[in-house]
Amino acid sequence: MSTDFTTKVTLPPKGTVVLEARGITKRYGQVTALDHANLDLKAGEVLAVVGDNGAGKSTLIKVLCGAVVPDEGEVLLDGKPVHFRSPLEARKLGIETVYQDLAVAPALDIATNLFLGRELRHKGPLGTWFRLLDKNRMRREAQHEMDELKFHLPAIDSAVEKLSGGQRQGVAVARAAIFARRLVIMDEPTAALGVRESGQVLNLIRTIRDRGLPVILISHDMPHVFEVADRIQIMRLGRRAAVTTPQKNTMSEVVAIMTGAARGDEPVEGNGG
Ligand SMILES: Nc1ncnc2c1ncn2[C@@H]1O[C@H](COP(=O)(O)OP(=O)(O)O)[C@@H](O)[C@H]1O
Ligand SMILES: [Mg+2]
Repeated sequence: MSTDFTTKVTLPPKGTVVLEARGITKRYGQVTALDHANLDLKAGEVLAVVGDNGAGKSTLIKVLCGAVVPDEGEVLLDGKPVHFRSPLEARKLGIETVYQDLAVAPALDIATNLFLGRELRHKGPLGTWFRLLDKNRMRREAQHEMDELKFHLPAIDSAVEKLSGGQRQGVAVARAAIFARRLVIMDEPTAALGVRESGQVLNLIRTIRDRGLPVILISHDMPHVFEVADRIQIMRLGRRAAVTTPQKNTMSEVVAIMTGAARGDEPVEGNGG
């Protein structure tokens, strides 16, 4: 029997829209976190989502990964409407998310962390009836995947608490990359990291994209965004204010649109927000 782990789907040609959000609105009491927000993610790209604090970035990606149910709007995966009521439902359809706060279990080893919640069990009655974990196979597969991702870590059976912040984040990102079949979402994956460690995580993001999984990257770090993004979605006041690329606009121009000092090409004013 094959596991999730070895199941890979045929990916659509570069440029095809994989995930689309249209007119997403989410209110919390008096606060409008999202006000008819749009997003589209294409095959083969890293789409960065930028915006000031409170612009609605986190809420938007929570809608896309099933953690928040929107009040209005629709989400389409491969052109088909989806209605996620939990992150598990999004995961089942191939969407993996790396959250801002590190989602690793420090006391457990790297291989176990990679398979957390999706452990490989022994074949036959040992696995079926006694739920026995196939540790050797998990280690082997974990090592193989980390090699494929060109992410170098100490021994795969060392505890995650012995790793640096960047290596830990690498484990969380690799885990998402290994199990995602359609796309990966990351909310501020380099926020807590130093320069060298951020570089490792940015490399990992590029490797994931080059292996065929599009990535949505939320980040407030403009140099990081300009380093890895193919396209940049600029959010302001709960909606998409503009979509640009590192070639079309400079960092200061992007910041100007973010803060409202310059206009984007999609109007955000006058929506009661
Ligand atoms: N669970 C929540 N309850 C109340 N207000 C929220 C909640 N989540 C987000 N908000 C509000 O919605 C707005 C957008 O937040 P968020 O999506 O976190 O923005 P960003 O990630 O761009 O900083 C902010 O004003 C924030 O305070
Ligand atoms: Mg946020």
